[in-house]
Amino acid sequence: MKPKVFITKQIPEEVERYIAEHCEYSIWEEETPIPEAQLKEKIKDVDGLICPKANVTESLLSHAPNLKVISNIAVGYDSFDTELMESHGVLGTHTPYVLDETVADLIFGLILSAARRIPEMDKFVRSGQWSSMEDTSLFGKDVHGATLGIVGLGRIGEKVARRAKFGFNMNVQYYNRSRREELEEKYGLEKKSMEELMQSSDFILTMVPLSPETTKLIGEKEFSLMKQEAVFINASRGKVVDESALIEALKSNKIRGAALDVFEQEPVDAANPLLSLDNVVLTPHLGSATQQARDAMAMKAAENLVAGVTGQAPPNVVKELQHLVP
Ligand code: DGY
Repeated sequence: MKPKVFITKQIPEEVERYIAEHCEYSIWEEETPIPEAQLKEKIKDVDGLICPKANVTESLLSHAPNLKVISNIAVGYDSFDTELMESHGVLGTHTPYVLDETVADLIFGLILSAARRIPEMDKFVRSGQWSSMEDTSLFGKDVHGATLGIVGLGRIGEKVARRAKFGFNMNVQYYNRSRREELEEKYGLEKKSMEELMQSSDFILTMVPLSPETTKLIGEKEFSLMKQEAVFINASRGKVVDESALIEALKSNKIRGAALDVFEQEPVDAANPLLSLDNVVLTPHLGSATQQARDAMAMKAAENLVAGVTGQAPPNVVKELQHLVP
């Protein structure tokens, strides 16, 4: 008998065929996310669950006594409660590598958009305000040759560092728990303390995963240390930044601007003050949103799922649960 799995969103045909070869499955076909009560009903006898960012709670796990693996279709897995999953003997997997370059492309888009004020200037042209481009208050800030500070030099941070160094001749520095000597050599990077990084960077990018230690890692103190001309970029998780402190820094021009793909609350509330500020570029958590990356993520998640429900070792178990791998 094939193991049973539940899929919470539509996936590419090829991925569905692959799952069908190995599992009995059903899919949530609606565009809107599955309501929790229905999810609990659907998973009551499954061996595996594949979903983007499932909110793992005791109540969810207790509805799925046969569950062996939750396969996240995302690289970030802050929606997993790994201690809880361990206590239920449930593996958690994610989708690293296949989206790194895609997210790094977006980050460069954000850096350039904020520095050269591209969305703001687009509105300027469309609204018929363009008569000359001599007004210095419309000028932007150079990216090439500037200093980029990366907080969290993981897989995606590295791809950004490579673009910065070889594409834009930037001086790249980083803050990370551990030293990355091989990357220092490869890209001429310099490791800094958090304080030094804040004080000496022209562009500051946060790329740390969300955890209790990184929640509100960047707050009032960090913004107060930044240069007045600094541009802050976040493409990891909204909660690693104290959003009120960021809004205050942008409103009072303590920093020049920001570019954000992620927010404390997603989707952003219509009343969020960020929406009315000109010195911030906003995108709707689209870091991995290209067809190629999303297809590759779905296939990787399927491979993790199938391995997990057929008693093999899934290739991408999250590090906190790797000791549970058979
Ligand atoms: C991830 O995979 O964690 C990304 O945030 C999705 O865009």
